[in-house]
Amino acid sequence: MKLLKTLGIAATGLLLIFSAAQAAEGQKDAKGISFSFEGPFGTFDEGQLQRGYKVYKEVCSACHAMQYMSFRNLSQPGGPGFNEEQVKVLAAEYTMQDGPGEDGEMFERPGLPSDRFPSPFPNPQAARVANGGALPPDLSLITKYRPGWYGTFNQLVNGIGGPQYVYSVLTGYVPDEELSEELKKEQPEGKAYNPYFANGHWIGMAAPLSDDQVTYDDGTPATVDQMARDVSAFLAWTAEPKMMERKQTGFMVLIYLGILALLLYLVKKKIWANAH
Ligand code: HEC
Repeated sequence: MKLLKTLGIAATGLLLIFSAAQAAEGQKDAKGISFSFEGPFGTFDEGQLQRGYKVYKEVCSACHAMQYMSFRNLSQPGGPGFNEEQVKVLAAEYTMQDGPGEDGEMFERPGLPSDRFPSPFPNPQAARVANGGALPPDLSLITKYRPGWYGTFNQLVNGIGGPQYVYSVLTGYVPDEELSEELKKEQPEGKAYNPYFANGHWIGMAAPLSDDQVTYDDGTPATVDQMARDVSAFLAWTAEPKMMERKQTGFMVLIYLGILALLLYLVKKKIWANAH
């Protein structure tokens, strides 16, 4: 009986896993671009993360919050590699509401490294009103939340493809004038066609990027493709800021286990040497 019960639970669990990994109907798999941080030895590219921050700040932050990020995270090891002075300057570019002061009134002050990234809207209702009813989601964890492709085996081998999902949404718009007559008929007011979007083809975000929208400090040409790659890498980092540390620890553990295995082998040989 107990065995049956256990099997039953296991089967239900598997079913849940597989059904959770279903794509929205007709959603296209994300484009399979590669990033520097993939694989067991992959690392984030500091220059790319700095450019990605710039794209987030100058474009995406007009609508999307990142409530889990503080400015000081930008100088932590394994990240974009800004130094503390630079982070002070980046934070001070924002104006924060603080208070209440002695007089009971709220007041404004320049941002500090300890501040969270500010939200562009005071509440979700206001965010919807400003975006034709659609809610711009918080982007801190989006690359963990949205897979780029589905199938347990596929995800095991290729990762879940979160950064590829963001990249594909940003570069996957079909301009209105290229839509078929059929699609034009079903197009909801104020929505654009994007086959990569996980929540149906019609997305309530107009294509946010166009060439040369930002000016990169390192002189990299700001094409849509480049900006989309950079901001996707940045969002991969915000969702897993300790990835580099984790990989380094894993590598040390493997070396340790390797040496241990070798020692055990030699000890075994020595102990059994006379037994043959
Ligand atoms: C003018 C406001 C606006 C700007 C600017 C903007 N977005 Fe959006 N974004 C939205 C809205 C609104 C949605 C929700 C769309 C929906 O649900 O139909 C959205 C959805 C998304 C999604 C899909 C989320 C999901 O649920 O799968 C991603 C990814 C995304 N935005 C990334 C970005 C990035 C990266 C930038 C900067 C390059 C950006 N957005 C700039 C308003 C904006």
